[in-house]
Amino acid sequence: MTVTTKQDRVLIFDTTLRDGEQSPGATMTHEEKLEIAGLLDDMGVDVIEAGFPIASEGDFNAVKEIAQRSKNSIICGLSRASMTDIDRCWDAVKHAGKPRIHTFIGTSPLHRAIPNLSMDEMADRIHETVTHARNLCDDVQWSPMDATRTEHDYLCRVVEIAIKAGATTINIPDTVGYTAPRESADLIRMLLERVPGADQVIFSTHCHNDLGMATANSLAAVEAGARQIECTINGLGERAGNTALEEVVMALKVRNDILPWQTGIDTTKIMNLSRRVSTVSGFPVQFNKAVVGKNAFLHESGIHQDGVLKNVETFEIMKPEDIGLSAKNIAMGKHSGRAALRAKMKELGVDLGENQLNDVFVRFKALADRKKEVYDDDLVALVQDQVGQD
Ligand code: KIV
Ligand code: ZN
Repeated sequence: MTVTTKQDRVLIFDTTLRDGEQSPGATMTHEEKLEIAGLLDDMGVDVIEAGFPIASEGDFNAVKEIAQRSKNSIICGLSRASMTDIDRCWDAVKHAGKPRIHTFIGTSPLHRAIPNLSMDEMADRIHETVTHARNLCDDVQWSPMDATRTEHDYLCRVVEIAIKAGATTINIPDTVGYTAPRESADLIRMLLERVPGADQVIFSTHCHNDLGMATANSLAAVEAGARQIECTINGLGERAGNTALEEVVMALKVRNDILPWQTGIDTTKIMNLSRRVSTVSGFPVQFNKAVVGKNAFLHESGIHQDGVLKNVETFEIMKPEDIGLSAKNIAMGKHSGRAALRAKMKELGVDLGENQLNDVFVRFKALADRKKEVYDDDLVALVQDQVGQD
């Protein structure tokens, strides 16, 4: 089986359970991994990288059970460029309806120095290991780790070898988050133009966020012809993390006018997954994180609140419901105005006359000066106090 995709479709490859779990301190239990894999499958993720089976007995068992329980997603395991790794990976993923072996080796000068292989020796190793993987599984992904710092001629040479050996997906990792959008696009375009057989496989992008450019780099790669994005929920991952799934998926949805590619993701499941991954990994989501941060849909200043109360599109480019969030978008604080207080009171089921509203507003402002955020309970207490005095 060769994995194909339509030209207007981008495959979403989630690696929360592999690259994400490699974040120091983000280890998940077996049960937690099964739960997250089930949620990813239900959300419509095309490929779930479930783990690194050779890494430990626990990782092997998790990948195997995720494979056994999988419904629609391709289940992928990672392996280094060694026969033992690849065999172990296959033993875990073969239980899936749609298994994939992902094998990689570092191809940049710095990474070639670690196993101390010459360019020719590494090329031979790639040929042997990809051939071996392909003899086991019809769906093989190959990655030249640190591709963005690999010499272009050598990168073209090894990608061609991997394709000839039977790789069906070629993933181009920006392992250290070093590239920038134009360079990310140029690299994919260069490979598509120069490598014989490149049109027979799917090119994939795998970006890290060390310079905060992972989402932009992934989308630039898609514009140049990549048709798979590797990403994680909440951008979890080594160091500054990986491309955030919610960001690329919502960018493709909200800006489909200029980014005309579809994903198969049910975006209304994003918020729940974000919360579950945050809880099980122990990694809180920063308040102002794009798409899933606590403040991503909240408005505190009076001007913004007045605007969204009149027409939500004045300050919102996506609907909270689209990511599975209820439409509460008003945060009450010292910058809030009377219109927001009136709307909030209505939402709380409190009907105040104009004079009462004015009195409560004065007390609310005094409280907001002392407190960072005024919660619903604070407002109810203010009203009860006010009514007691009237
Ligand atoms: O960042 C990276 O290069 C990786 C590879 C193993 C694909 O995670
Ligand atoms: Zn990575």
